[in-house]
Amino acid sequence: MQENAITQLIYLSSATGHLAADDLKQILKSSVRNNGADGITGLLIYHEGAFFQVLEGPAQVVAECFDRIEADARHGRIIRMIERQVPARAFPAWRMGFARPEELGEEARAAALSLYDIYSESGSLSATVPDVRRLVSSFLNSFTGLSLKQ
Ligand SMILES: Cc1cc2nc3c(=O)[nH]c(=O)nc-3n(C[C@H](O)[C@H](O)[C@H](O)COP(=O)(O)O)c2cc1C
Repeated sequence: MQENAITQLIYLSSATGHLAADDLKQILKSSVRNNGADGITGLLIYHEGAFFQVLEGPAQVVAECFDRIEADARHGRIIRMIERQVPARAFPAWRMGFARPEELGEEARAAALSLYDIYSESGSLSATVPDVRRLVSSFLNSFTGLSLKQ
């Protein structure tokens, strides 16, 4: 795998209906299976009906994966916040880690909850807004050394 060409894509979305624990398990199961085969890693956070997901991997597979995710009827109002090249993965060990904000460290939890607030109030989030960039950086930086369940 070309680790010098990693695309990182970060989006927020809203679940279209009530998602039970089993629905989330199902999403994670296919994510872990597909991402393992595709060389994608990342993190999925679920909070009060909203998803926050980081996908990272080679540009082409990330684009194909995101096409499938965008077409998934289990969520909508998808806001692609950031799509950029990064020198290294933030979540190299997770085919798709999963967490709820309360399971995160303090800095990541505060950043995630602020992003959710902006998202639910404005319905739009853009990486050109300095606050959003700062919150995403704070979120990603806080993960060094933290271990989440796969
Ligand atoms: C919030 C959310 C996150 C998802 N994340 C991924 C993912 O990281 N990788 C993936 O392959 N599918 C993901 N999916 C599922 C895809 O939308 C799609 O159902 C799946 O890739 C289809 O593959 P399958 O036929 O092998 O299950 C996600 C779906 C949702 C609703």
